[in-house]
Order: sequence, then C-alpha cells, then structure tokens
Amino acid sequence: MKENKAIVGFSKFTKEQKIKWLQEQLDLGESPNSIFEQFESSDKESQQIIVDLSENHLSNFHFPFAVAPNFLINGKFHVLPFVTEESSVVAALAKAAGFWAKRGGFHAEVISTIKKGQLHFTWKGKPEKLKEEFNSIAKLLRTEAMAISHKMEKRGGGIQNIELKYLPEILPNYYQLDVDFDTKDAMGANFINSILEQFGKSLISYFNKQTSWSVEERDGEIIMAILSNYVPESVVKVWVECPVSDLSVSDREANNIANKFVQAVHIAKNDVSRAVTHNKGIFNGIDALALATGNDFRAIEAGGHAFAARNGKYAGLSNAEINNGIFKFELEIALAVGVVGGVTALHPMAKMAMKILENPCAEELMQYFAVAGLASNWSAVNALTTTGIQKGHMKMHLTNILNVLNATSEQKQAAKTYFVDKEVSFSDVEQFLKDDRRN
Ligand code: MEV
Repeated sequence: MKENKAIVGFSKFTKEQKIKWLQEQLDLGESPNSIFEQFESSDKESQQIIVDLSENHLSNFHFPFAVAPNFLINGKFHVLPFVTEESSVVAALAKAAGFWAKRGGFHAEVISTIKKGQLHFTWKGKPEKLKEEFNSIAKLLRTEAMAISHKMEKRGGGIQNIELKYLPEILPNYYQLDVDFDTKDAMGANFINSILEQFGKSLISYFNKQTSWSVEERDGEIIMAILSNYVPESVVKVWVECPVSDLSVSDREANNIANKFVQAVHIAKNDVSRAVTHNKGIFNGIDALALATGNDFRAIEAGGHAFAARNGKYAGLSNAEINNGIFKFELEIALAVGVVGGVTALHPMAKMAMKILENPCAEELMQYFAVAGLASNWSAVNALTTTGIQKGHMKMHLTNILNVLNATSEQKQAAKTYFVDKEVSFSDVEQFLKDDRRN
C-alpha cells in the first residue's frame, strides 16, 4: 500500500474508480483492467446477478464446474455436480462412484431434519419465576411471530419447540431460548433469524408490561438472536458395503485392503491430527457439492466439525468395519441444506446444478451431500492405504504446474507423456521445460 491510511467511502466509488484506486495503491501488474474484464460474463443478466451478490464487486472468480456420473444412490443412478479448485477431487469422486456402482451403490437415509436457533438474554429476577411464567410466555411468542411463521406452517414446517435454559455458569443472569425449527426445503437462515428477533422484541415487551413485577424484573436485555449452525438433530446417514472378497481379485490382497482401510478409519477416530485431515477429505466432496448448488459451505463445514466433536473429543466422522466377511463403510453427518431461496434459486450455475440433480427436495439433497462426503473419503483413504496419495494427486497437479510455468500445448502433451511413469515434482517439471526449450 502506498498510503498507510484508511480509505473512506470506497463502497460508493464506481467500479472503475475502485480499480483506479487499487492501481494507485498496489502493484497490480500491467493491465489489471483487462484481467478483471476477461473474467466477467458477456451475458448482462447473468453478470448483474453476480454483481449483486457482493459489495465492492470488481470481477468474477472462476472455478471449474464439473460433474461425476455413475453415483448409484438407493438404487437409482445420479450425476453429481461439483465446484472445486483441487484438481484431484472430482476424479476421486468419479472413481468412488464407479467402484461402488458395481458393488450395490450408496445407501442413504435421512435420520432427522430439525434446525436450531437461540435467543440469548439476561434477566435479573428469580429463575423459578421465569420458569413458572414460561408456558404463557412461549404461547405469546408463537402468537406474535405468526406473521412470519404462518407460510412455513402452511408448508408443514415452523417452530417446533421452545426451551428456556438458565445458564449462570456462562454469565450472571444469563438465559437462552433454545428453539427447534422445521424449515422444510429451505436452509431457513432468514426464517429462523427473523423469528428469533421477533421473539426478542416480544419477550422484552412482555417484561416491560408486568406492572406487578419489580422495576428490575421488568427490565430484561437481549444480547443476540441467531440460528445455530450446529445441527445435531438434522442428521443423514450413508453407507457402502460389499463382501471383502469383492475389494480385489486376490483374496489375500482384498483382506489386506479391507484391514488397512479399517485401521486407517480407526486411527482417525482416535487421533485428532489424523481426524482433521480425514474429515477434510470428507468435506472435499461435501463443499464441492455445496458450492455447485449455492449452499452455505461455511455453515455446513462448521456444523460438521462440531458434530465430529459431539462426544467431547474431535474424531473422524466415518466408520468402517468388517463383519462376517462384509466390509462396511459408513458416514453419519449433521447437515443443514436448502433447495429453495438464497443463491440456489438465483445463481444460473447453481440452478443448472439443481437441474443436473433432477431438482431434489432438501432431504434428497442431504443424502447427496453425505454420499459426496463418503465417496471422497473412501477414495482418499483407499489411495492412502494402497498406492499412496501422491501418485494420483501429482498427476492431476502436473497440469497446474505446467500452467503456472506457461507451457505451450505441445510442451504439455510432451510432459504428460514423459511423466507418465515418473514422480512429478515442481522442480522436475521446471527442468523438463528448460531442457525442452533448449532443444
Ligand atoms: C486432500 O485434499 C485430502 C486428503 O488429505 C484426505 C485424507 O488424508 O484422508 C487426502
């Protein structure tokens, strides 16, 4: 930065002014404008949708939109769409889909779909008094939130349960309203937050109106009202299984593959350092599907990692076992997803992703998320316990290295042939190009 001071009113600048200011302050190379322009859509309508998604928009950031076919889920074939920058992820997903399609496919089941929100507040009266009053307070809260909740109720969802929690161990005079919601096909963040904010207003107004209460009792204070991304009652389960002997052509190798796989999953259950990486492999698939469908991948990740620590210690999310000669690999995960509203209904590519998925309901989409998680986890652990991960990774990474080094298409072809039976490293590829350019 040339000037070490805050800029005031940046958001009010036109796009051109913003870029000019950046150029004045930073070294953006020769012609940043042409790069910013190059990545914008030529279709005005689509471009406006992207522009409207964020403050201070300068351009679009492209990632590959890819698909993996052959996902056999509960007896039906599906194509899953993915958006990710990690070259090996979709190849790994496609490999898992093809492998398990020949062995019965993925079995998926939604266990529960309840989402949570919290109203955090303080109140200085006796806790017993609030507890006694609580049934009538809850009734009033539901009634006064009706204007917001009635449409969701018509769709069969809405507020399910309101629980009062007194938690002085966290803060003096601190309470929570812990509220359960069913948001049907919506992720429901706006619905939940609007209801909770209304609850806050109704609660304070209720306190203020209690003329028989002391002045202190009439004066509660709302700290905040917000949904929780921890959704341990919105859970989906997915598994694959097959006779151990189906894992390889030789029985000895099949047993070895199954045993090592189970050991690797057991390590992730018991060692935090390994668990985090193991779960990252799960989210390689889940996040890529979340991005493609315009779902909030940060919410899904945060909730998923909290679920991984639900027993007091962070652990791998999947389980593997061998029972009576059957290998079973399973994932149970807490997820809140939506198929209506938000970016899913807005972004043209997210809409396309939903079409590729044949416009699923939220429960079906939950199953596809879990399938994507188990599939990418299977591919990673299978590679780690057999060939090692670098073989597949570096082959995919070769293209990235060649692009970084500005290789021509002839050089790319020559490098791919040359490295087909060799270890790929950045320095070796660099040397290969130097030699090629010298010849
Ligand atoms: C890389 O993106 C993901 C892995 O590290 C996952 C794992 O270790 O299980 C390969």
